[in-house]
Amino acid sequence: MQPTLHLGQILEFPANPFHEGIESVRHTRQGAVLVDQGRIADVGTAEALRMAHPTAAIEDHGDHLILPGFVDAHAHYSQTAIIASWGKRLIDWLNTYTFPEEAGFADPVYATQIAKRYLDLNLANGITTASAYCTIHPASVDALMAEAQTRGMSMLAGKVMMDRNAPQDLRDTVQSSYDDSAALIARWHGKDRLRYAITPRFAPTSTPEQLEAAGALWAAHPSCAMQTHLSEQHEEIAWVGDLFPQARDYLDVYETHGLTGPGAVMGHAIHLFDREWAALAETGTGIAHCPTSNTFIGSGLFDMDRAQRMRIPTGLATDVGGGSSFSMLRTMAAAYEVAQLNGRALHPAELLWLATCGSADLLRLGDQIGRLAVGRVADLVVLDLASTPVIAQRHARAGDIWEALFPTIMLGDDRAIAQVFIAGQPMG
Ligand code: GUN
Ligand code: ZN
Repeated sequence: MQPTLHLGQILEFPANPFHEGIESVRHTRQGAVLVDQGRIADVGTAEALRMAHPTAAIEDHGDHLILPGFVDAHAHYSQTAIIASWGKRLIDWLNTYTFPEEAGFADPVYATQIAKRYLDLNLANGITTASAYCTIHPASVDALMAEAQTRGMSMLAGKVMMDRNAPQDLRDTVQSSYDDSAALIARWHGKDRLRYAITPRFAPTSTPEQLEAAGALWAAHPSCAMQTHLSEQHEEIAWVGDLFPQARDYLDVYETHGLTGPGAVMGHAIHLFDREWAALAETGTGIAHCPTSNTFIGSGLFDMDRAQRMRIPTGLATDVGGGSSFSMLRTMAAAYEVAQLNGRALHPAELLWLATCGSADLLRLGDQIGRLAVGRVADLVVLDLASTPVIAQRHARAGDIWEALFPTIMLGDDRAIAQVFIAGQPMG
């Protein structure tokens, strides 16, 4: 296929703006991205790239902003249908809404129906990669992986492992969880753009023996991701203390079972002791920040600055359906609001970095996606920075790209997503 030159505004992040400052980000008003064979082949000014690639097809996005597709570092596709369920905190919310819904995934037809809906919602919101929790049923993983594969998407997913403190029909065993996960790894991990994430749900729903098995499985398949939840709510932390009385703290439960290190992604990580912060940094264990979930379920305020100061790999996540939105724009807005409540105004560049490079690096996919850089797969989102009347009137007063972008971060939704490309192919 002929290479395509996409023209529009572009932002490049050669470094982490939390560390290197906002000045490290490159904005090009009349920029261009050359896509060849599904990959980014050149990035620069429209003038230079038109000269260098005179035979490329031109796709002119005008004033729209071309970005890497958003990367959702933590979501539960199986909770798509129960998003926005009222009135509960974590443990009650799991028992009242989540577990009954997840039981429905014993039916592969239902799993496929929700997988399609989930991926369509992701694409409508510019999310081109996610790390998804499935249910205990292996067929729930098959459904999501197959649908992602059909769309050519980069996707991580894993069957949750739960052998206690869940309804009987949502429990596996140490052996079955190991065997089912291993079979799913063999079936999906490394196929096309799919990766497996070993997924012990969280410490309270696994026996020490199951966590041991999860650690052994990860040791046997170290290129898999490993995802779980950490220190989301105080009641949960106290429960972990009761269930694992010998543990120094919550993170210690995962550490002692081989579930920390690069490629391990802890959802939430809000209420951490100093020792846990230090251990995350020392082991290279990462965090998925889920701000809409943290306000919706009433969990607390994540300390983004501390995570960045300690160089802990950190990305941004919807945590659908504890999270209250499929929109990564809304998720960035919530991250802004949570940080404001901690006394810090995150810059639009920092928010955007978290939703792209930050999440991609956290998931160990930074060499494939998350940046407008040569060699990366051309998963792209094109943002309309004046998608509604209220955004347009604020955008009209903007003095620079950041003022032009911030109204879309705070007020934007799927109407701001002008176009999405997966490996250079337009979606929808
Ligand atoms: N902790 C354990 N399971 C879950 C879940 O499904 N959602 C959230 N937000 N927290 C959890
Ligand atoms: Zn979660």
